[in-house]
Amino acid sequence: MSFSFKNQVALVTGAASGIGWATANAFAQAGAAVALVDVNGDAAQAKADSLIAAGHTAIALCCDVADIDQVEVMVKETIATFGRLDMAFNNAGIQNVLAEMADATVDDYERVMSVNLRGIWACMKFELEHMRRQGSGTIVNCSSLGGLVGGAERASYHAAKHGVIGLTKSAALEYASRNIRVNAVCPGLIWTPMADQMVAAGQGEALEDMTKAVPMGRHGQPEEIADAVLWLSSASSSYVTGQSISVDGGFIMR
Ligand code: NAI
Repeated sequence: MSFSFKNQVALVTGAASGIGWATANAFAQAGAAVALVDVNGDAAQAKADSLIAAGHTAIALCCDVADIDQVEVMVKETIATFGRLDMAFNNAGIQNVLAEMADATVDDYERVMSVNLRGIWACMKFELEHMRRQGSGTIVNCSSLGGLVGGAERASYHAAKHGVIGLTKSAALEYASRNIRVNAVCPGLIWTPMADQMVAAGQGEALEDMTKAVPMGRHGQPEEIADAVLWLSSASSSYVTGQSISVDGGFIMR
């Protein structure tokens, strides 16, 4: 399916890598002006430059979504630059340090929650403030397969991703009658630099076992998540809100 987002503005967090980059690129290919937001400002700038060089409209914004003041400035800067905000993909996320709950540290818990849950909350807060005034908008939040099931040694990550679905449903209810839709995607095993980091951290075998457990027998590509995000951001999903769409090769069916 091809989409046209001409004259529309998209904001993507975690846009310098993996799923975020694939989605920012897809939004740009579909004609949207794109704000590429990332804590790694140089990498986001390089990606924005590549879009601009290809004739698209883009800016890079350095922002740590765990810092609410930075999030407020980032959303305001997007709107100041492009004049509006039509679509947001709140995607930035990190892994927890693998540990049984009895051994996990409060520092790691706080780190994961501050990015994966509070970061999404902060982004939505300022995006919705503008969309409410504007009278339109779509938001897609990045949850995970881990937002739907438990995960040994991954309690804080899974708890945060479950929380993202709670935020999504609650905001969807609040704004359903105001022309603002809020949905989530739940990626399964997607090959990105995050997966490379897991291999580097000695979790390669676990990833291989997970891949074998995927009914489709393969891991997914970031572009397959981008397709779902663009659909949820487009008028083609105009009667869909508050949903968490699994894009996981059928993993969650088991
Ligand atoms: P990635 O590691 O390739 O990219 C994540 C990006 O987010 C990086 O550019 C990083 O700099 C940025 N980022 C990290 N912390 C940030 C912060 N505090 N503020 C702003 N930007 C920050 O990861 P990937 O795989 O593309 O993951 C994207 C999202 O998809 C995450 O929320 C992740 O939890 C979720 N996900 C990924 C899966 C996978 O198999 N790759 C599976 C399920 C969910």
